[in-house]
Amino acid sequence: MHKVIFDTDPGVDDAMALLFLHRHAEIDLIGITSVFGNASIETTTRNALFLKKAWGIAAPVAKGSGETFDTSRPHIDWPTGIHGHDGLGNIDVPDEIGLPLDPRPAHRFIIDIIRANPGEVTLVAVGRMTNLARAVSDDPEIATLVKGVVIMGGAFDVPGNITPAAEANIHGDPEAADIVMRAPWPVTVVGLDVTSRTVMTRAVLAEIAERGGEAARLLADISRFYIAFYEQHVVDGMVVHDSCACAYVVAPELFKTRSGAIRVLCGGIADGQTIQKPDGRIFPPNAWDGQPSQKACIDIDAEAVLKLIGDTL
Ligand code: BDR
Ligand code: CA
Repeated sequence: MHKVIFDTDPGVDDAMALLFLHRHAEIDLIGITSVFGNASIETTTRNALFLKKAWGIAAPVAKGSGETFDTSRPHIDWPTGIHGHDGLGNIDVPDEIGLPLDPRPAHRFIIDIIRANPGEVTLVAVGRMTNLARAVSDDPEIATLVKGVVIMGGAFDVPGNITPAAEANIHGDPEAADIVMRAPWPVTVVGLDVTSRTVMTRAVLAEIAERGGEAARLLADISRFYIAFYEQHVVDGMVVHDSCACAYVVAPELFKTRSGAIRVLCGGIADGQTIQKPDGRIFPPNAWDGQPSQKACIDIDAEAVLKLIGDTL
């Protein structure tokens, strides 16, 4: 059984990932932490509570960061054209959900839960890395107590999706992402190299809605707006970025990884770019030296991952 804290900015593909974690038999979802990104922190936190209530999820929700680790960074607008003005595909989520939040801020919640379950917790982070960076900066020892960190973010051998260099989750808080990559905990990055090739068609989503009960029907409603965006701009269906990171937790054999130190560019025209120095490559002294070796996903059995997601939902 994998004990998972899900750090998320719901977010349409975040919603699918949350339902995957809730429904997968080998996952024990023990906490949900919100972060800004696809919408403001008020909206993503409200959405996390909304989904918790709608889907009967037991895990507590802790509210996280509403701004970047380096607070002097200029604000980036919310991607309302992708996730809708309410972050969940314009289904008009109610303002008040009527469920309490965990009293702790997300980074404190993460620290407490890792310390209470040494060696057992996997952090799955699919938004800005701000909460994780704050947690490991406040309590560096958690890096040795966590089982693993799996993040959706970054682009190594493919272009970004928010600039030619950067993927949205990393670009939204590069300083935080660089802290997360450099901490001595085992990070696996599930980035655009693999997620952009993992596309769920409308037909598959319709089948999930038909066979997956009321929860899956809500997911299909939420997803309509996001699919329309992707079909118009990129691919024929829904790119399931965040679910790929969750699938990695239970089925890492469906991914091929490359090991090496990862750094994130902070500033300049390639702000938010992720660059890995593959293990074994020799260079003159450089900024990657002395950093822990982390894994970047560079290939995926997309068909098998989509089947895993579909079967679980
Ligand atoms: C990431 O950005 C967000 O829009 C998605 O939820 C995903 O986590 C993809 O770049
Ligand atoms: Ca996300």
